[in-house]
Formats: sequence, C-alpha cells, structure tokens
Amino acid sequence: MTYETILVEQRGAVTLITLNRPKSLNALNSQVLEELIVAFGAYEADASQRCAVLTGSGEKAFAAGADIKEMADKAATEFYTGDFFSRWTSHLVKTTRKPWIAAVNGFALGGGCELAMMADFIIASENAKFGQPEIKLGVAPGMGGSQRLTRAVGKAKAMDMCLTSRMMDAVEAERSGLVTRVVPLADLLDEALKTAEVIAGMPPVAAIANKEMVNAAFEMTLDQGILFERRVFQILTATEDKAEGMAAFIEKRPGVWKGK
Ligand code: HXC
Repeated sequence: MTYETILVEQRGAVTLITLNRPKSLNALNSQVLEELIVAFGAYEADASQRCAVLTGSGEKAFAAGADIKEMADKAATEFYTGDFFSRWTSHLVKTTRKPWIAAVNGFALGGGCELAMMADFIIASENAKFGQPEIKLGVAPGMGGSQRLTRAVGKAKAMDMCLTSRMMDAVEAERSGLVTRVVPLADLLDEALKTAEVIAGMPPVAAIANKEMVNAAFEMTLDQGILFERRVFQILTATEDKAEGMAAFIEKRPGVWKGK
C-alpha cells in the first residue's frame, strides 16, 4: 500500500509510524485509520519487527483529534450503523499483540489523546498537551477516552478534563500517571526509539506475555488476574527463550532469542 497520511519506516527491529497531516495538526480521518490498520497489521505480521513507535509529524501536534471537518456533516445513523471509531480499538489494541509506544510531540486532543492511550505507554515531549475537549463540540469521547483516561488518571482529573475541556500539560500528565516520562521535544524521537530498541531486544514471546498480563489488570478481578499471570508465567517456562535467558544469566553473556 502507498501511504498518503502516514509515514512508515523500519529502523532495525523497530517500526516507526508517523501521522503525517501536519497542516490539520494530524487530525484523524478515515484514511488515517485505514492506513494505520494496514501499517499496524504489517508490523504485527513481520517477525523481524519487535516494537513500534507512533508519533506525529511537525512540532505542534501528535494529533488534534478526530477530523472535525469529516464528522461535521455525518448523520447520527452513519455513526451508529458504521459503528464509527470501533475499528481503532479492534485493530490497534486488540489485534496488535506486540508492543508499541506513543511518542506524543504536542497536542494530543480528543481522538488524539485516545489514540495515544491505546499505546502500551506514552512518552511525551515537554510541550505535549493532553485533553478531551469533545464537550465543546456537543459530543463526548468516542474512542475510549472516558474509560482509558479515567483508569490512567482517576475520576477527579478525568471528570475535570472531560467536563471543562481543560488540557493537561506534560508535567501534570507525568505526575498523574498518564505518561511514563517527559523529555525535551528535540530528544523525543531518540528517546522513544531507544526505548523501543530495548523492548525489541527482549525475548519476543515474553514481551507479548508481559503486555497481555498488564492489560489483564484492567479486565479482571485481582484473583483472576493473579491466576492469569501465574498460568502465563508457567507457560513461559516451557519456551526455549526461558532456557536461553537463564543460561545466559548464569554464563554472564547476553541472551540470543529465538522467539520460541
Ligand atoms: C480537523 C483540525 C483539527 C481537527 C485542528 N485542525 N484540529 N481539523 N479536525 N480535530 C486544523 C484547523 O482547522 C486548521 O486548519 C489547522 O488544523 C491548524 O489549527 P488551528 O486551530 O489554526 O491551530 P491553533 O490556533 O494553534 O489551535 C490548535 C488547537 C485547535 C488548540 C489544537 O486546532 C483545536 O482546538 N483543534 C480542535 C481540537 C479538538 O476539538 N479535538 C477533538 C476533536 S473531536 P485550517 O485549514 O483552518 O488552517 C474528537 C472526537 C473523538 O476527537 C471522538 C472519537 C474519536
């Protein structure tokens, strides 16, 4: 596929995907979604690729939201029958089992904030701003924002942001648990790629398993989650990479992973 709204490149074992509609602050329209579905599908299917980074082009925005100009004239029945927005979660969250990081380089508003929160974690630049300003458009988050933001930062801040539309800056976002680290804008991509390389250097089966376990914490009771964790741990002990990892530790050398 020739991409028109995103850029995709492989850097060693890391796939870098860049939202590329800078004139509209990387607003997320249907074409962006279709291209991201293909790009994430290709990343997931390619065994040489072990981690992905999603960022926005330009210095101003990761993504300023779903494309308001595309949504403005759409009828309610179209949103409903087309189950508008459901494919973001089904493709980028549910079927992308391999890890990926959002590198947020400016505004992450509405669907942009929701897209960033679909990532396994967020690294933000100092100028990043997060918000769910949909209320000002007469709507509300539609791609998981009310749920993922509340789980990430708690009810008080999520309510504050959704009801007032105020933006959270990078410092507050880190303090609130929405992002894992904040770096100067000039260092953002390097930091995200370096982090992705670390993950890409891990045993790949264990990487998927670790991701699955952490995500299970949001879906299960504590007892169920701990049982799930223990069972997955036990399954991992049957992998060749477990034997290699423990042997490598004892022999004081780096592990060489087979993904088996
Ligand atoms: C379409 C957008 C856009 C968007 C910005 N643009 N955000 N186009 N959809 N979400 C376009 C502007 O129309 C403008 O195009 C260009 O990008 C630059 O934006 P400006 O507004 O001129 O920039 P600035 O004054 O710096 O303001 C930046 C901003 C503002 C604060 C981020 O653009 C803004 O408030 N954007 C909308 C944010 C928002 O409401 N997001 C939620 C969307 S709803 P032109 O052609 O005029 O130069 C949503 C629904 C989620 O996400 C539900 C499920 C997905």
